[in-house]
Amino acid sequence: MNQRARPAPTSDSPTHQQGSLEAFLQSKATRPTNQSTAKASAAISLSTSNDLNQRIRVCVRKRPLNKKETSNQEVDIAPLRGSRTIELNAPKTRIDLTRYTETHTFTFDDTFDGSSSNTQIYARTAQPLVDYIFKGGKATCFAHGQTGSGKTYTMLDPNHGLYVLAAQDIFRLLSSEYYAHLSASVGFYEIYQGQLFDLLNQKAKLVARDDGNGNVVIAGLREYPIGSVEDLMSVFEYGNQGRTTGKTGANNKSSRSHAVLQILLKTKTSPAKVHGKLSFIDLAGSERGADRGDANDKTRQEGAEINKSLLALKECIRALDQNKNHTPFRGSKLTQVLRDSFTGDSRTCMIATISPNNSNSEHTLNTLRYADRYRIEAIQELD
Ligand SMILES: Nc1ncnc2c1ncn2[C@@H]1O[C@H](COP(=O)(O)OP(=O)(O)O)[C@@H](O)[C@H]1O
Ligand SMILES: [Mg+2]
Repeated sequence: MNQRARPAPTSDSPTHQQGSLEAFLQSKATRPTNQSTAKASAAISLSTSNDLNQRIRVCVRKRPLNKKETSNQEVDIAPLRGSRTIELNAPKTRIDLTRYTETHTFTFDDTFDGSSSNTQIYARTAQPLVDYIFKGGKATCFAHGQTGSGKTYTMLDPNHGLYVLAAQDIFRLLSSEYYAHLSASVGFYEIYQGQLFDLLNQKAKLVARDDGNGNVVIAGLREYPIGSVEDLMSVFEYGNQGRTTGKTGANNKSSRSHAVLQILLKTKTSPAKVHGKLSFIDLAGSERGADRGDANDKTRQEGAEINKSLLALKECIRALDQNKNHTPFRGSKLTQVLRDSFTGDSRTCMIATISPNNSNSEHTLNTLRYADRYRIEAIQELD
């Protein structure tokens, strides 16, 4: 299919009103800020536990029941069983309309419920990846799940998302003499309908290329140097205003694009060399076409593209987990731009986010199966 023929984001996107990043930062600098900036987190836990240093980690996070669900007397149908296992008691109805419960059990590297904070989750997901990029590696942290299940809250919440917690550790490490030769910069783009848009440069269209050494270069991507956590948060705030959202049956303001925030560690040499790269990816909602109710053609097309990229992502992570030489990264734009995260010594952490309530049980089961399936197959191959 000719991707260039696809429509660019329109409707809800504030593309055309957005000024430049510099103007935005200038206006922030001149107005008093009473916004809460992130406090330095407690001492970095340089955990050496082996299980945190796996090439791939897959964790599940269940959010708490929200007010609406509680007032509708919905219950939590996904109890944790220990720190790694989650049960899903899905309500079912037989043809004769009698009801029964179907229980599914899944085991992951870690499971977290509504009482876990982002700080606790960070320590078991992104923090080992921060250590890894300082050693010169490439790492990716994904959130995947149904719209409303907590992807953005986990990854890209402006004040306490994992990216902020990672930045606190990154700048702490950069301030040490040992890493005085490195500096940080940030790129932020979205993938919408198979096209790339630079969120730090008024949504300029970008093209991904191979540099001939197996590295993906996103031509023209703005990489903005950052010197502090606050810098990063301001740059993020600007970029986040440009994200594509749309109305679907599942949620009125669901994110219909994948957002990729990458923090690069570069040498201070000229030319600078990339030392390490950490990407945070807030994937578009995983619900299927049928869940979108009276959605129009555009929404359906978005859904098809999102599903294609999520399938391709699963294939690539499976290939990485199985140490396969061939990674099917060409399956979608998402995996194409993440190619260097699926090769060599890269590390990946996926956080599957789920809603706890009964009426979302189908979505929850899909998310848990998506996160689980390639691991089972990987284990079977070893047998
Ligand atoms: N672990 C959590 N604790 C408290 N509130 C949460 C949690 N996860 C999500 N929420 C809330 O639920 C709503 C949906 O979360 P959001 O991150 O926007 O979902 P998604 O990005 O997957 O569509 C938001 O109002 C968010 O603040
Ligand atoms: Mg979101």
